[in-house]
Amino acid sequence: IAPSHQHPMEICLFPATLQSWTGDVLVVGMFEGDMEDRLNDLEKRCGGSLAQRLEQKMFTAKSGEIANFQLLQSNPSQLVIVGLGEAQKLMLDDLRKAAALGARASIGSSGTLGMMLPWEPLVPAAAAIAIAEAVRLSLYKDVRFRSTPEPRSTPTKLELIGLPDTAGADLQTVHPICAGVELARELVAAPPNSLTPASLAETAAQLAHEHGLQLKVLERADCAEKEMGAYLAVCQGSDLDPKFIHLTYHPQGPIQRRLALVGKGLTFDSGGYNLKVGTAQIELMKFDMGGSAAVLGAARAIAELRPKGVEVHIIVAACENMVNGSAVHPGDIVRASNGTTIEINNTDAEGRLTLADALVYACEQKPDAIVDLATLTGACVVALGEEIAGFWTSDEHLAQGLSTAADAAGEGLWRMPLQSSYRDGLKSLHADVKNTGPRPGGSITAALFLKEFIDESIPWAHIDIAGTVWSEKGRGLDPSGATGYGVRTLVNWICSQS
Ligand code: BES
Ligand code: MN
Ligand code: ZN
Repeated sequence: IAPSHQHPMEICLFPATLQSWTGDVLVVGMFEGDMEDRLNDLEKRCGGSLAQRLEQKMFTAKSGEIANFQLLQSNPSQLVIVGLGEAQKLMLDDLRKAAALGARASIGSSGTLGMMLPWEPLVPAAAAIAIAEAVRLSLYKDVRFRSTPEPRSTPTKLELIGLPDTAGADLQTVHPICAGVELARELVAAPPNSLTPASLAETAAQLAHEHGLQLKVLERADCAEKEMGAYLAVCQGSDLDPKFIHLTYHPQGPIQRRLALVGKGLTFDSGGYNLKVGTAQIELMKFDMGGSAAVLGAARAIAELRPKGVEVHIIVAACENMVNGSAVHPGDIVRASNGTTIEINNTDAEGRLTLADALVYACEQKPDAIVDLATLTGACVVALGEEIAGFWTSDEHLAQGLSTAADAAGEGLWRMPLQSSYRDGLKSLHADVKNTGPRPGGSITAALFLKEFIDESIPWAHIDIAGTVWSEKGRGLDPSGATGYGVRTLVNWICSQS
């Protein structure tokens, strides 16, 4: 299935005032209790009696409120007023939400969308990026699997009105980053009969080809030679061959930092013999490659942005967790590539087994830092819900860097404890460790399990995206379904070190 190439809209700053703007749909943001001046300005441009009509609609500019006017004239033929809540509380996320709301209201138009949202006291360049990303990402729709997609038009041009010239500084990063997010969404949303370990490797090959990245794929035999017994155990019940993917971005010029991104890449997780039954939505386990989607999406963005001074390694141990006569038995003992023996007391804790060998491999590249992303535990979903991913690290600098990157991206990320005493929960009678600890603190013991495979001299962070990878109802700029979570945080983090 080919990616759904929607032609990206042109995005620019409109250099003059609202009065001289022309276009098809105009979206204007308003603060609660402060609508008068803006309404006067707007009435001058679009005609009278707006205040009265808003009052009829009982519109008070609360955050999330929207008033949609189809005008009889053209230029603009549609006016959308969105509420931003209280002026003193304005955050980038309010702009994202309002922009997404306004953009969705513009669906059906195929002309120019003008957007004028108040941004003070925020930094104008950050405001511009937040708005532009929200518009592109909220208009995205995945129609690859429809036989006849319903016709749908969206504005072809976005003009940001009322921002100073300085706001345009980084606007050219918007398309590369959004293309990365959309790639991640498409990979996650693709069903497991279409998105397989082999097709994930093909996607990596395509990225390598189109964007000048270096690619190495280890086949089953190569992984066996490296004695990746934990990873290979997971896929031994699947008819599909595993693909161990290693993509590298080489910057131009001297290299200051070498980073590794590792993504969990289970193209389907049935649970194995500890089969997912009862409340677990097994049909959603196509999203269990969300970590790999995020790192590949980030790779796509990085390859286009070409940050200087950083070399980036993207590593994915892709496979399926299935059942057949040769699948792993609950209770099997296997040996990972660093020699650690693991008792697999639960075949559904498979992600950490694939990551064990992927992390050993990442450490062998001797990077300056490693970040892994994984839809690792249901326990993390219970702890933090759908909007916040958890992260674990013992490196303060890395913790700071990731938190800052996630904040700027508008992606929820919360640090969790690497409580070393909980390591006792992984003690095995016969092997060095077992793969599954007790239910309480399940996402912490999962992180501690991964730590067993990390060279202690390399700063490492683990991000559990089990909750954020998918959205039931859609939220903010994310449509329902795959969110593409992680791409923007990773890109910000990498670019912050270049
Ligand atoms: N892929 C799942 C984690 C998951 C569960 C993600 C629900 C999103 C929603 C993972 O492989 C898994 O099955 N984890 C088990 C671990 C348990 C057996 C220790 C879990 O969380 O139940
Ligand atoms: Mn599982
Ligand atoms: Zn899984």
